[in-house]
Amino acid sequence: MILLEVKKEILALVLGGGRGTRMKSRTAKVLQPVIDVPMLFYPLEELKRSELTAAVVVGHQEETVRSYIEKDFPGTITVTQEQQLGTGHAVSVARETWQEYEHVLVMPGDIPLLKEDTIRSLVKEHIKKKNVCTFLTFKTEDPTGYGRILRDGPFLRIVEESDASDSEKLVTEVNSGAYLFRTDALLKALSKIDNTNSQNEFYLTDTVSALHRDYGKVSARLCDDPEQLQGVNSSSQLAEISGKVRKRIIEKMLDKGVKIADPETVHVSPKAEVEEDVYIEPFVQIMGSSYIGRGTTIGSFSQIKNTSVGADSNILNHAIVHDSFLKENVTIGPFCYIRNSSTIEKEAYIGKFVEVKKSNVGKNSKVPHLSYIGDAEIGEDTNIGAGTITCNYDGQNKNRTKIGNNCFIGSDTMLVAPVNLEDRSFTAAGSVITSDVPEDAMAVARAKQRNIEGWTTRMLKKGKGKNGKKGAN
Ligand code: UD1
Ligand code: MG
Repeated sequence: MILLEVKKEILALVLGGGRGTRMKSRTAKVLQPVIDVPMLFYPLEELKRSELTAAVVVGHQEETVRSYIEKDFPGTITVTQEQQLGTGHAVSVARETWQEYEHVLVMPGDIPLLKEDTIRSLVKEHIKKKNVCTFLTFKTEDPTGYGRILRDGPFLRIVEESDASDSEKLVTEVNSGAYLFRTDALLKALSKIDNTNSQNEFYLTDTVSALHRDYGKVSARLCDDPEQLQGVNSSSQLAEISGKVRKRIIEKMLDKGVKIADPETVHVSPKAEVEEDVYIEPFVQIMGSSYIGRGTTIGSFSQIKNTSVGADSNILNHAIVHDSFLKENVTIGPFCYIRNSSTIEKEAYIGKFVEVKKSNVGKNSKVPHLSYIGDAEIGEDTNIGAGTITCNYDGQNKNRTKIGNNCFIGSDTMLVAPVNLEDRSFTAAGSVITSDVPEDAMAVARAKQRNIEGWTTRMLKKGKGKNGKKGAN
């Protein structure tokens, strides 16, 4: 609660300007995906929860990083670091954002597992001890890549991997990169650091020893949950940490009462919300800002993305649903694809090998087999026969099909849009419907059948091939 009392006094500065060379990727490090959101999502989300004002240093791929921040965290301040000359330089470049505050919380953009509680406890200790700097450290069996914490009697120092001696490299207490500084002291310390080190960078870590020397009041707080402070500097660390984030999300869902048959195989976005008593079969992905209502079942190999699914729905195996709305009690799949702002109303059914694009399917209507429904409006209690296709594209424009309530579309009907079928209309199977069908009417649009009597016998007599069939073999 101390955090709330002092929050106006603290600015949180996330460092996201670095090149991330060790990732060997064209994508900026802080935009590398962890589950389905950029790594930067995680520190910014925790800061949002802690109600701290956040600023982000952007540099490498500045425009892309900034546009992501504006999209997911509007209102967040961004500061450009033109050249990436090190973490100390990044903090220095952003001083106009933080110097008016009493304290600045500095966090790297590459530690996605850090939780709000830990930030709170850092703040609490810093304020209680009236420190000039409090930072988080952790112990790890493999300290490779991290700055080592050197506690030599009265001295406290952080030495980077590339500057460390062999004996210093053996130290297993490492720097997390998350610090809280008193801003007046930090300003002075930043003016003292230089780049005479193996990487020719201005290290923020050098301010720590300077502050310790000048003020004494510096605490290196050993965190009892080292996992939270793991950094991402390589592809293998990205994969490892993504796995941990995934597990954390799944555990939270299980605690809430979501039923997951095989938790190891299910992937859920940190943006998704799944209600209690949803049942998830193995190998399911729930991505983006999706919502799954209570009592719904999601079958194996289904992927739900940016989609809201109402309560008590039944999503059978291999259903792909993107950017759409499924209302309560719908049944879809197996093997269907619903996309582009489609809405499936209550109790409707989208069945096997059906694609629905930018269309609304009304309450209790059914599209059970092998259909393409694109740019269409289907009313209530309507049945769409197997193989029906809305021919929505004339080569230049996408045209709409409108089908009313209580209609029956015969199997293999081609609906050449734009076309309007009024309530209670029928189409005969195999019809190609090119003009509107009025209410209560049956449209037949196919060649009239003609039966040729005795045809088979005549053919068999003429036949020379095996079984009397000409040409058959
Ligand atoms: C840093 C720390 C190290 C610590 C580790 C924890 C320094 C010198 N070292 O090392 O002690 O153990 O984090 O994970 O601080 N950045 C910029 N501008 C720059 C350089 C970096 O914004 O000019 C950003 C990066 O985007 C990144 C963060 O700062 O988000 C940390 O930089 P990184 O290169 O990952 O530092 P580490 O080598 O991990
Ligand atoms: Mg790092």
